[in-house]
Amino acid sequence: MIISAPTDYREAARRALPRFLFDYIDGGAVTEQTMRANCDALQAIRFRQKVLVGAGAPRLDTTLMGSRWAAPFALGPVGATGMYARRGEVQAARAAARAGVPYALSTVSVCAIEEVARHASGQLWSQLYVLKDRGYMKNALERAWQAGMKTLVFTVDMPTPGSRYRDRHSGMSGPYAPLRQYLQALRHPRWALDVGLRGRPLSFGNIEAYTGRPMSMTDYMGFLSSNFDPTIRWQDLEWIRESWKGKLVIKGILDPDDARDALRMGADGLIVSNHGGRQLDGAPPTAEVLPAIVEAVGDRLTVLADSGIRSGLDVARMIALGAQGVLLGRSYIYALAAEGQKGVQRLMALIAADLKVTMTLIGAGSIEDITQDKIARLSRDI
Ligand code: FNR
Repeated sequence: MIISAPTDYREAARRALPRFLFDYIDGGAVTEQTMRANCDALQAIRFRQKVLVGAGAPRLDTTLMGSRWAAPFALGPVGATGMYARRGEVQAARAAARAGVPYALSTVSVCAIEEVARHASGQLWSQLYVLKDRGYMKNALERAWQAGMKTLVFTVDMPTPGSRYRDRHSGMSGPYAPLRQYLQALRHPRWALDVGLRGRPLSFGNIEAYTGRPMSMTDYMGFLSSNFDPTIRWQDLEWIRESWKGKLVIKGILDPDDARDALRMGADGLIVSNHGGRQLDGAPPTAEVLPAIVEAVGDRLTVLADSGIRSGLDVARMIALGAQGVLLGRSYIYALAAEGQKGVQRLMALIAADLKVTMTLIGAGSIEDITQDKIARLSRDI
């Protein structure tokens, strides 16, 4: 399939992957209304077209949390990335390093922290979920620090996994899941050969490094549903702030009061996110809540945003709404599934090119120039 635009990778990924995996990436919670609303709310943001302002050739580089980013986007944490392409986390991290942007490694990754750090340079972030087993969390923090990952993304919007109907329908979970996955994999021999058979047997590396036991794809869903911790409160996060010397970024904030709490507990940044619509279906789209959160805390910590970003134009929209930078989720995962590291690099190049065109057309010469006054219609009018 010929790729001409960043959005083409979705169809390419659909063709490349067994259905249960494509649906796991592509789907959201329950009726997927929040997932759809993320994209719709972004698309409803209209820019003012500014002519003859002489903004010059746009520059994409920016400084966030004390580091230089070549462009205002990072690759966000995505579980099971090594299931979509062989040693997928290493491939994605290498693509990010090439592009000069951060890569965040999920807790539930196939490649362990150490493998990614060994094979990829660049800015590596480590993402952590709140799990019942605090020993695991302590172990993961130590290993991330030892491996040189100095930014921790602490995801707080998963006290329990969202209800994902699509996963039950497609065989990711539910009755006969292993059999259904096996039968679907047979129809994708290239994927099965590339991901499943070459290289090592698949396991979830970070969890295996702690328990000493391999964890298969089938065990993964069980692990997810039994290990998340619904008892966690803001106070419980204090030990994380005390024991983590690096930058701390809280992911999964949708409410200005929660943003103030994140600031109070000493976070360096937060990510306005609804997990790509995979958690609370009916939660607001991020574009809608972002301006109020920026107003509450934006001058005191770094505000990043994700959910629904599919193009360079969308990146500009989030920044105009007040985010200092964004995270890509599904958009880079589709590219990885379709074309591996090369695809992720190409995806980022396409998004960067789009972003530059947008900036030129709105009269912004730098990322800092993409301000709220570039918007013709504010999100509250949608
Ligand atoms: C995610 N996301 C996620 N977030 C996180 O903090 N840890 C994780 O392990 C995962 N795993 C994960 C798996 C898959 C398949 C997806 C699609 C997403 C959420 C992710 O970081 C990000 O918030 C969303 O993907 C952003 O929404 P879009 O851009 O995908 O719509």
